[in-house]
Amino acid sequence: MQRADAPTDSARHVDAVLRARRSVRAFAPRPLPQALVREILQVAATAPSNSNTQPWRVHVLAGAPLKALGDALDAAFVAGDFEAPAHFPDPLPGPFCDHQSAFAACYYGALGIDRADAAARARQTRRNYGFFGAPVGLIFGIDARLARHSWLDLGLFVQNVMIAAKARGIDTCPQVSFAPFHALIAERLGMPPEEVTACGMSMGWGDPSAEVNRMAMPRRAVEDFARFEGFEGFGEASTS
Ligand SMILES: Cc1cc2nc3c(=O)[nH]c(=O)nc-3n(C[C@H](O)[C@H](O)[C@H](O)COP(=O)(O)O)c2cc1C
Repeated sequence: MQRADAPTDSARHVDAVLRARRSVRAFAPRPLPQALVREILQVAATAPSNSNTQPWRVHVLAGAPLKALGDALDAAFVAGDFEAPAHFPDPLPGPFCDHQSAFAACYYGALGIDRADAAARARQTRRNYGFFGAPVGLIFGIDARLARHSWLDLGLFVQNVMIAAKARGIDTCPQVSFAPFHALIAERLGMPPEEVTACGMSMGWGDPSAEVNRMAMPRRAVEDFARFEGFEGFGEASTS
């Protein structure tokens, strides 16, 4: 007999999609129809937001406009023509620093890049600006007048985009590397003055043969980041 707390089919499906999503950094040269991207964005827009303010704005590019933006970003990257990245505080506090080091070891290790080889690391970073060869590139903007809690709403939307895509067999890579290029992006995409570039995303069909797509980044265990109180007498937790 099935346990009352056994995972349902829909839980299994959702969990499988969540576990299958990975940041993909090499794409097959296969076009992604606009209708499919629209469908993904529409379902992603079910994301919750504070007072239903829905603060996301998305620029979706393919074909010549994507190539033109990618070329301009690449040229600006090579010329050093961008704002100093402010993705993290400097120095990054202890535990985060450790996770970042583990990420770098895994990432550059999979690519055969020596971490001390700054030129090779820069070449890999540069690939961000070609959207890793993806057929579709998205730039996520938000109204700069909003407070940080609205950025939380945007993050929920971005995650929904990735999960809705993965559920359809489509891969993504979220990319904050576009943020320091806001001036260039805003001009090219005709953003209004109040809009700011939060991040970007490559989207398409991942190339399963690419080594860079085979990494599984480690995750912290629940015991490491959560604390529980008051569950005495509630029974054993469900294990799947
Ligand atoms: C907000 C955000 C920004 C990110 N920016 C980049 C980026 O600029 N370039 C990149 O290659 N990966 C980027 N990533 C991907 C992370 O490195 C990746 O999510 C993390 O290492 C966990 O790996 P996974 O997504 O494969 O599970 C970003 C992820 C998030 C959530």
